[in-house]
Amino acid sequence: MASPQQLTLAASTPASDIAVRGIVARSQQMRDLLRDVVLYSNCDANALILGDTGTGKESIARALHQGHATRWRGPFVSVNCGAIPDGLFESEFFGYTKGAFTGAVTDHAGYLEQAHGGTLFLDELGELPLHQQVKLLRVLEQRTVTRLGSRTPVQVDFRLVAATNRDLRRMAAQGGFRTDLYYRVAVLVFRLPSLDERGPEDKRAIFETILRRLAERNGYRLGNVPEWLLDAVERCHFQGNVRELINLAERVAITCQATGGWNADLLTAMLHHPPGADTAPARSWSAREEAERDRILAHLENHGWRRQVTATALGISRKVLWEKMRKYCLFEAPSLDAGNGGRLGS
Ligand SMILES: Nc1ncnc2c1ncn2[C@@H]1O[C@H](COP(=O)(O)OP(=O)(O)OP(=O)(O)O)[C@@H](O)[C@H]1O
Ligand SMILES: [Mg+2]
Repeated sequence: MASPQQLTLAASTPASDIAVRGIVARSQQMRDLLRDVVLYSNCDANALILGDTGTGKESIARALHQGHATRWRGPFVSVNCGAIPDGLFESEFFGYTKGAFTGAVTDHAGYLEQAHGGTLFLDELGELPLHQQVKLLRVLEQRTVTRLGSRTPVQVDFRLVAATNRDLRRMAAQGGFRTDLYYRVAVLVFRLPSLDERGPEDKRAIFETILRRLAERNGYRLGNVPEWLLDAVERCHFQGNVRELINLAERVAITCQATGGWNADLLTAMLHHPPGADTAPARSWSAREEAERDRILAHLENHGWRRQVTATALGISRKVLWEKMRKYCLFEAPSLDAGNGGRLGS
């Protein structure tokens, strides 16, 4: 297990990133957030992490745990509050003693006891039904738990970190979430921006970092990730946020390995029509734009991708042509035996 000292703002590759336990953050919003994580990790205040799906809520929860001076040695118990069957809440959270009910053949510590000395991570807290919220609140106030079938309360000492993609404050105002529980949990609040809300540099940095990690893991040399690909990724919209961006990077890595290079046609098509994913260009083209794209592509091909000749044929400047090529992701596939700029492996 890593030591807590590792939870520092450290320079990583690429040099301008800030890295906290594998979390890549280049945008100002994320750098500020990570500074807060570092600042508040070594305390016991309850914390609430808000953010859309795939933005990194669990990663931040784990970073808070790892950054604690003593708890990092203890357990990190992750509980998905949306997946606890109603009748099992007590036995799962509080545990039970042997013989407490049919099927209780041994003593069993619940999540609250399991987290003793460490961190209890309540994921999807917004999914916890109201009647279960009351029971949880009681434990958080008393910090003791009594197993089913026992009369002896046990002291529990854990740091509570919760996460949700729901607007708990609004839910509380509308009666869907207990206000007292909300305020007990939301002592420190970390709000993770969606990828689109972050500066575009984060998409590039995460994409490139994942490609590098994959190359390292699979033992091949990556070379330079072409600028046109990073530009195109930057313009994509990722409904599933970082998780979806990672999926894209994995597909790109597989494709590049299979084709032995940065195949612009294939990769561009992948960015526009990813198999079975929600990724789509930030803007979808109008019929007029589609027609313009087709026309430019036809001219580029006719003129052997020579930009000056193509621009002249289209009656636009070279600069405007380049802007439109970037907009429509129109790039010539590099030849496989081109220099290392177009190659993936060594
Ligand atoms: N800034 C980041 N840099 C690198 N990897 C990240 C970053 N943020 C998240 N990840 C990775 O993205 C994936 C999703 O992150 P995580 O599970 O923490 O998100 P989440 O908000 O809890 O998702 P969900 O809403 O689906 O539960 C994980 O593999 C995580 O390691
Ligand atoms: Mg999660």
